Amino acid sequence: MESSPRRHDEDGKREMPTVAGSSQTCHLTVRVVFAIAAITLITGLLFSFILFVILTSAPEADQMSTKELLEQLQQCQKKLRDVSLMLHTVTQDSRCSLCPDNWLWWMGHCYFFSVGLQENRQWNESSEFCQQHNSSLVVIKDSAEMDFIQGVMTKFSQIPFLWMGLTDAEREGQWLWGDGTDIQHYMPVMVEWDSDHRDCADLRGGGSLFAADCEEYGPWACKKEYRHTF
Ligand SMILES: *[C@@H]1O[C@H](CO)[C@@H](O)[C@H](O)[C@H]1NC(C)=O
Ligand SMILES: *[C@@H]1O[C@H](CO)[C@@H](O)[C@H](O)[C@H]1NC(C)=O
Repeated sequence: MESSPRRHDEDGKREMPTVAGSSQTCHLTVRVVFAIAAITLITGLLFSFILFVILTSAPEADQMSTKELLEQLQQCQKKLRDVSLMLHTVTQDSRCSLCPDNWLWWMGHCYFFSVGLQENRQWNESSEFCQQHNSSLVVIKDSAEMDFIQGVMTKFSQIPFLWMGLTDAEREGQWLWGDGTDIQHYMPVMVEWDSDHRDCADLRGGGSLFAADCEEYGPWACKKEYRHTF
């Protein structure tokens, strides 16, 4: 019967924040685009060089051929712009698996949102999950990144909050990001509801950070640098 998988879909719990499955095609596309970009760049440079040689060694050169060369150079520059646009589109496309399956690419990093796992974890277990995947709980470095994460949270309404890489377990009231920096180091943010037994921070809608008991169970988000594999 179809009813049970459909129910799952309606729950939205099986839905992943990525569209996986086309990673091979995508890697190929990226490779091809980079190849085209390289060729276009080299051709452009070559034309510029030829033009430079002609203009400097023979100022009396045929006006027509100089004009032609200039036109070709302009064409080259136009192509380069197109290729840049293509590159931009390909690398911005989150369906394009620049990251492992089920990880989202954003601005040179890969993000994992545990929403697809149907599993909640304590803060330390969430942190361990990220470490096992060569990543860490998210450290938010600017408002654009905050917007990106908020966007994902909005899209997947079953994320009420996300464990962040932010804790004051070492010294009460001194909130530190996972990379050891002070909470205010990157952005002017603060943690609400802080108290003795709430040492781990979670992120909620509207970009607010709340202190929570580290032993609570919840979804989490990991982040790592994106590394080229093609
Ligand atoms: C997480 O912390 C709890 C107690 O706070 C502990 O029982 C558990 O072993 C820890 N898990 C990991 C993976 O460190
Ligand atoms: C993590 O990194 C190590 C060493 O760089 C590598 O061997 C391992 O496969 C990576 N694990 C994952 C899950 O990416």
